[in-house]
Order: sequence, then C-alpha cells, then structure tokens
Amino acid sequence: MNQRPTEAIKGFSKLSKQQKLDWLLKHYSTHPDATRAMLEGYWHSSGEVQKLHDEFIENTLSNFYMPFGVAPNFKINGKVYAIPMAIEESSVVAAASKAANFWFDRGGFKASVISMTKIGHVHFVWQGGDPQWLEALFAQTQDRFMAETEALTRNMRARGGGILDLKLKDKTDSEPGYYQIEARFDTRDSMGANFINSCLEELAKTWTLAVEENRGDRPGIQVVMSILSNFTPECKVRAEVSCPIDQINEGSGIGNQEFAEKFARALRIATVEPYRAVTHNKGIMNGIDAVVMATGNDFRAVEACAHAYAASQGSYRSLTHAEIASGTFRFWIDIPMSLGTVGGITSLHPLVKFSHELLGNPNAEELMQIIAVAGLAQNFSAVRSLITSGIQKGHMKMHLLNILNQLEATEEEKEQIVEHFKDKVVSFSGAVEAFFKLRGIGPDA
Ligand code: MEV
Repeated sequence: MNQRPTEAIKGFSKLSKQQKLDWLLKHYSTHPDATRAMLEGYWHSSGEVQKLHDEFIENTLSNFYMPFGVAPNFKINGKVYAIPMAIEESSVVAAASKAANFWFDRGGFKASVISMTKIGHVHFVWQGGDPQWLEALFAQTQDRFMAETEALTRNMRARGGGILDLKLKDKTDSEPGYYQIEARFDTRDSMGANFINSCLEELAKTWTLAVEENRGDRPGIQVVMSILSNFTPECKVRAEVSCPIDQINEGSGIGNQEFAEKFARALRIATVEPYRAVTHNKGIMNGIDAVVMATGNDFRAVEACAHAYAASQGSYRSLTHAEIASGTFRFWIDIPMSLGTVGGITSLHPLVKFSHELLGNPNAEELMQIIAVAGLAQNFSAVRSLITSGIQKGHMKMHLLNILNQLEATEEEKEQIVEHFKDKVVSFSGAVEAFFKLRGIGPDA
C-alpha cells in the first residue's frame, strides 16, 4: 500500500530520473513494479532521442504516446499533400481523408494568407495627468526604441522581419492609469514568441529610462508586464472550397439543392447559436490541432486565438461560412493562427521533423494554409454527416475497435465483430452483446 507524502518534497527537479520514479512510486502507486515497467516501457529505445525528450520539459518520467496518422489526397492550391495528424480521437483522420477525397475531384482546396503580423504589449501604469506629454515623449523615443532593440532584432531583420511599428495606447478608460506600448512584429517563419517577448522586455526598459530621464516632477511609470498576445487577428489565413451545386452531394442520400441549403442553414445556426458554435468549432479544431501537434506547434496558442477570434464580434460564432450563389456552393474558413516552421522543437523532435518533410518543408505561410484546410475539411465531413446520416454512424464505427480493445477481444474476434457491424449502426451495448454472443456467454448465446 502506498503512503501519500505529508510534507512537500524539496528539490524534486534536481533528483535523477530513477530517484524521481522511486519517490513517486513509493508514494503514489499501488503496483510500483508494474507501474515502473509500464513507464519504462514507453522510454525510447534510442538513448539519444530519449535524452531529447527528457530535456524538452522538467521532470520527464516517460513519453506520452499519441497515434500519429496521415490523411492523404489533400489538393491545396493545385499541390497534393499527405497531411500528418497526431490525435487520439478515432474518427478525425478518417473524416479528414474523406473530405480530401471528396474535394480532390472538385478542384481541391484554395488557400491564401491574408496577413502575417504578430502583436505584443508592454502593459504599464502611469498616474500623470497629461497624456499629451507622454505621447510626445513616446514619439521622441522611437529611434531609441529601435536602437536599443537593434542587437535583438538583427537576425530577424536579416530574414526580412523585425519590429514593424510601436504605438502608445491610452487605456485609462478601462483601468485607472493603464497604458500600453503596442508593438507589431513580422517574425517570418518562426512563431516568434521568444523574439517578441525579448523585444518587449527591452522596450519596457528603454521606456522606463526615457520617462525617468524626462519626467521632472511627474510620476514615473510602473511596468506591469511585457508579453506577446496570442490573439493575432492580423496573422490570418483563408481556406475555401467551391463547386457547382449539382456536384455537391454524390452519395449521401439527399438531393444536391437540399444538401446545399441544409448545409448553409447548419452553418447559420452555428453563427447565431453559441451552444452549437462551440461544438462546431471544436470539430474544426479536431483537424487543426492534430496537424499543429504533428508539426510541433503550440496548440494552446492556436486554440486560444481561434476562440477569441470566434467571439470577436460580440458573441461566439462559427469560424466557417457557407453560401450558395449563382448555382455554386462555397464553403470557407478565415482563421488567425501563429505558427512556426523554424525554432521550437521543429528541428529536434524526430516525428515533427518527419511531418515537415512529409509536407515538403513548408514555410510558415504554407503551413498556415495547410492547417486551415485541415480544419475546413474536418468541418465539412462533420457537418455533412450531421445533416445526412447523423454523426454516430461513422463515429461509432471508428470507435468499435476501442470498445473491443476494452473487452480484450482477440484479433479474430475483432475481425468477426467488425464484419458483423459492416451494415449495422454500432452502439456500445450492441458491441458488447455481439462480443458475448461470439464467446458463447449471455442469454442469446
Ligand atoms: C466531435 O469530436 C466533433 C463534432 O461534434 C463536431 C460537430 O458537431 O460539428 C462531430
């Protein structure tokens, strides 16, 4: 029986991996030997790769595996991609592949980057009474801001990026004494979080000094924090598909016009009804997050940004849109996202490196387009199922193997039960019943 610690452990991060495991298993595991074997079983066989993983974060004990799959046949701007996806949800890769195939024969996806600008702020407080003075000093300090961030921005400027502009913003209406330096950046192919944050911290120092040197009897400023914003509405991409209405609905059981109208109505519902919009956008993020993860990008940033954007018109809305005009069905997504194809773990994690290679080593703009397409495709498949067969038919079919694995079915049993459900709707109880019947257990056996 394990014994929970009663006191905080000090210096845990300094212990070796084995010492950490010993301590944890002693206090938190009911089956320490089996648990140790399980955790060690997930260590990478190459010591070199394991060392990389160990050093990605603090206190690494093991590796957390996720299925890494691929959705082929994505035609985007005329180029054909196989898109890597890291995701645990059964139906996501299948749904993406289905949409890719569907649109392959209808001209494929078109995508374009609308803008690539990132943003960050020095949030500060100033209790002086004359904002015009602050504004004038800020204008005079522009050259100094650029000069003092020179060393930090040199490499980025050599790649065509850097600090684009700096603005002073008076926010005193929303919080007493609250001002910002709002800085806009071009970070080229890197997500740029470290670059932006370093620049902002330098700008904060320069600004504090400039105010100190010039303030006379006025109060100084207090810098509250200097940090990038993960809301990047000016770093935005569009992906779209369109086709004549008479080609929109091959094989889904309802007529083309009815399908197109029902689809557009489903999108309008997701625009006016936040309860639906959240689930609708969650489905989009199924596709987006899976590729963001596979390419080693920051899915928390991408998620936070997408949802802020979805709420930016005052209520939470669908990120995708559909229209029917002049006999054409058009379906598109506009979504801001900040991604990197250099920096972070992009050149370290072997699977991430492979994902980039699979995509042809895209730059950040191309990756934004690919990922927006993955989100649009995912949403197309979900809405298509929702307005025709219902979502559960496909979902449960994909989930069937999870249920059978939980029941510890053998490979042969799995094959037979999958065959049994080929033309039937899968439910949990139906799968359990079929399993017990096959084993000759239960009332109907
Ligand atoms: C499930 O992960 C995602 C869906 O619920 C999305 C949707 O309802 O549009 C199917």
